[in-house]
Amino acid sequence: MNEISNFFQSIRIPMRFIVLIVLAISSWFIVVSCSATNAGQYADNMAPDLIADYIYRIIKSERTIYGKYVVQRLKDENVIRASEHWEQDKSLPLPAQMFRMTAELASENSPFNYGSISPWSLNEGNTPNTDFEKKAMENVLNTGLPFKDYQTKDGKKYFSAVYPDKAVAASCVDCHNSHPIHKQRYPEKIFKVGDVMGGIIINLPLDSQ
Ligand code: HEC
Repeated sequence: MNEISNFFQSIRIPMRFIVLIVLAISSWFIVVSCSATNAGQYADNMAPDLIADYIYRIIKSERTIYGKYVVQRLKDENVIRASEHWEQDKSLPLPAQMFRMTAELASENSPFNYGSISPWSLNEGNTPNTDFEKKAMENVLNTGLPFKDYQTKDGKKYFSAVYPDKAVAASCVDCHNSHPIHKQRYPEKIFKVGDVMGGIIINLPLDSQ
């Protein structure tokens, strides 16, 4: 120790200064390693309802941007329309088709999935059918708020959440209200902008299959 302090004295750096620097560097290491551990714990303990909320934010934003700034804007400017037969008609995919194609790609080779449901569905495959879907859709329509719970579907355990799917643009309500299937099945239901038209369901698998 004496030799070390003699060395620093010889190059004129006071020993007290060296001790201070060593202390500062070690405290920095402690702070950095603690915050890294906390970040890890946060990710491990993240509640499934928070994860579902974040996924919903992305889905909702993409759906809103596509509905407002692509489908509605290009229709208003008479550039191109959205149509169910978009491939043959050289038109834009419907928001629902865009949504389903994205959802199918996102759930490829994974039990994670999301989709669209509605009691006024144009596509029967989108009618709420499990007990959870029926209960959740009813709650969302009554309260306008998301409904979340655990459910078992096809033998797999999920944390599931249904969020309100609102008519964000006039094109949503125009197309649905005037659709022949809608007029035939739900003649009394006239959607207005801002109405809840159905629900976005997110199924987070709980078992790692
Ligand atoms: C040009 C027509 C058209 C537009 C615009 C449109 N939809 Fe649809 N929507 C449909 C059709 C057709 C389906 C069924 C398609 C399918 O699932 O294959 C559908 C499906 C849905 C569903 C699932 C339940 C169902 O009806 O099968 C919801 C919810 C929905 N649309 C809401 C919206 C919202 C919200 C917007 C605006 C952002 C919108 N739609 C814009 C035609 C349209």
